[in-house]
Amino acid sequence: MAKTLNVGIIGYGFMGRTHSNAYRKVANFFDVPYKPVLKTICGLEEKEAKAFADRWGFETYTTDWHEVIDDKSIDVVDICVPNNYHAEIAIAAAKAGKAICCEKPLALNVAQAKKMVDAVEKAGVPNLASFNYRRVPAVTLAKQLIDEGRLGKIFHYRANFLQDWTISAKVPQGGMSTWRLDVKAAGSGVTGDLLAHCIDTAMWHNGPISSVCAMTETFVKERVHAETGKVEPVGIDDACTFFCRFDNGSMGNFESTRYARGHKALYTFEINGEHASIAWDLHDLHRLSYFDHRDDSIVRGWRSVHVTDGDMPYMGKWWVPGLQIGYEHSFVHQTADFLTNMAKGKPTAPTFRDALATQKVCEAVLASAKVGRWKDITY
Ligand SMILES: NC(=O)c1ccc[n+]([C@@H]2O[C@H](COP(=O)([O-])OP(=O)(O)OC[C@H]3O[C@@H](n4cnc5c(N)ncnc54)[C@H](O)[C@@H]3O)[C@@H](O)[C@H]2O)c1
Repeated sequence: MAKTLNVGIIGYGFMGRTHSNAYRKVANFFDVPYKPVLKTICGLEEKEAKAFADRWGFETYTTDWHEVIDDKSIDVVDICVPNNYHAEIAIAAAKAGKAICCEKPLALNVAQAKKMVDAVEKAGVPNLASFNYRRVPAVTLAKQLIDEGRLGKIFHYRANFLQDWTISAKVPQGGMSTWRLDVKAAGSGVTGDLLAHCIDTAMWHNGPISSVCAMTETFVKERVHAETGKVEPVGIDDACTFFCRFDNGSMGNFESTRYARGHKALYTFEINGEHASIAWDLHDLHRLSYFDHRDDSIVRGWRSVHVTDGDMPYMGKWWVPGLQIGYEHSFVHQTADFLTNMAKGKPTAPTFRDALATQKVCEAVLASAKVGRWKDITY
């Protein structure tokens, strides 16, 4: 019988739902060393917290995150709140000896992220930064193919993350549903929100980024703030494009915007190597496109690999070959790995330290855009 593991989730919004779902399902599908118990849900509004607890089966709810930290029976603190609360909660959780899963981006900036890394490493607590796209099976398979050397020397890594939801100047900034547009709550715009995902995946696939050259734009310069009711300057980047060099000599090209009309959440990447190329698209997340120049010329072409076979990453635990899974399963996979490593007293990649590296790239991107010059990154 697996030991029970008491989980406190802070934040019952979008990510609070994906993480609750993952803790509920993980032991049904994966051979994990713990049986997670949804102990406490925390969020700002009492009525909503109670309704969430009832719907998802939490034992209790609170509107004060300190209660989750102070509760000695809680083993795992899972942080699903806006970015400006990550550091304070994570540092308190580390001091209390809790295992911690924190949503991305790790922090508002590098200085905060460093303190978070120090706190978890000093306390020696298991930690995970929730860059969940690493655990979409097709994205994990891409890593496997690269590590096997199938692509050969890598020349290019390009990634996009495109949305279109802030084009209207009437969308407010700040408050419960539009905190992402308020620089004080989010830290940055598309760079920390969307490109951080692309950077995490890229550095996992292709190694560290050594220098960046970026441009950003804020198309709507002033918006009403939902909390003050006043028109205030917008401090986030609405769009960001950057070039980079990786340590391995390859070139990177990244773009993200919330102004690409027609795109809701189009995360794509393409990697070009000496022998082969790989491409992936979040809208078709269970497929991996693969081209291998070593194939016979008469059958050479892009293959669309349906990533559903039992010998493909994570897929042996789900249905039968040919039947696909979706977005929410990436959170189940990261939770399975988190619990497995936790039993060994280990952190799970991407660890807080890995997320600090991504934070450094994000900060260098924003600094480069500000001064209009290349920026080097040291880790
Ligand atoms: N991994 C991903 O793909 C992904 C996707 C979306 C969001 N995120 C990240 O997850 C985090 C949360 O984003 P979201 O979209 O779930 O936000 P959301 O707005 O849907 O939910 C935020 C939640 O935080 C709670 N909250 C806010 N301040 C609080 C406080 N002081 N104390 C307790 N609770 C508080 C709110 O009540 C709400 O339940 C952010 O860091 C975001 O960047 C990650």
